[in-house]
Amino acid sequence: MPIPFRATPECPAPSRRLGAALLAQGVITTAAPGEPELELLCGPEGLTLVARPASGPALALNIDLAGGTRGYRHARAGRSREDLVRALGRLPKDSQVVDASAGLGRDALVLAARGFEVVAIERNPVLAALLRDAMERASGHPALRASLARVSLVQADVRDWLSGDDRIFDAAVFDPMFPPRRKDAEVKKEMRVLHRLLGADPDPDAPETLKALLGRVRRCVVVKRPLHAPAIGGLQPARTLRGRSTRFDVYLPDGVGGQPSGRSGAG
Ligand SMILES: C[S@@+](CC[C@H](N)C(=O)[O-])C[C@H]1O[C@@H](n2cnc3c(N)ncnc32)[C@H](O)[C@@H]1O
Repeated sequence: MPIPFRATPECPAPSRRLGAALLAQGVITTAAPGEPELELLCGPEGLTLVARPASGPALALNIDLAGGTRGYRHARAGRSREDLVRALGRLPKDSQVVDASAGLGRDALVLAARGFEVVAIERNPVLAALLRDAMERASGHPALRASLARVSLVQADVRDWLSGDDRIFDAAVFDPMFPPRRKDAEVKKEMRVLHRLLGADPDPDAPETLKALLGRVRRCVVVKRPLHAPAIGGLQPARTLRGRSTRFDVYLPDGVGGQPSGRSGAG
């Protein structure tokens, strides 16, 4: 079902162009009057996805790459204190890293801040447009400009994209959605909007995506999981790094040290 779209006169030209592209693809449609459950708006802040739950206030998702914890993570990443960066091991700067689940762009920016060249891939077209819009806005931010220049955003399914590109990358990171387990109110607002957009079981094909990535990296694929979630598709990682609420499962491509993924039980 196309998502209703509404733009105010203050909608900036680049955001308007992204809206027009989504309209042309039939992903969104011109809004009818009323307050739909999910709506894409364009106002002075660019693109915002609004979810209106049956009860409680409306939730808005406007990706801000420079503000709040994101700016903080970006600054930390340059000093390699991010668990995601640590899980990747000693990768030299300029390494080519695929972010196979670009989402809100947080991890892609952290990787770029570390000096990696990042191909950030997001299959949901509305989310990819929200992220492209945010990257455009943030590119004027002096602290982020250099990092953003190292991120190429692609709207595609990773598996389709890999089949059309024969490069071998140094590493990949993958952070698939998992069905909401905690009570709705405890889950962060922006994740609640994402769940509305992507549905109840958004990434059931995560094991296939992981296997596709493993065939295309030299060093490793790092998969982000909730601390106590099972490993993706029962595939056992070669090693695991545990953060406060997130676990980083590190998979090695066959033939690179350790045990091949799917057959060992470390972690
Ligand atoms: C939890 S979010 C990722 C959040 C992201 N790591 C961040 O830092 O903001 C998961 C995203 O991965 C995307 N995704 C999952 N499987 C994918 C695939 N095979 N190809 C492209 N995108 C995928 C989903 O559409 C979803 O937007």
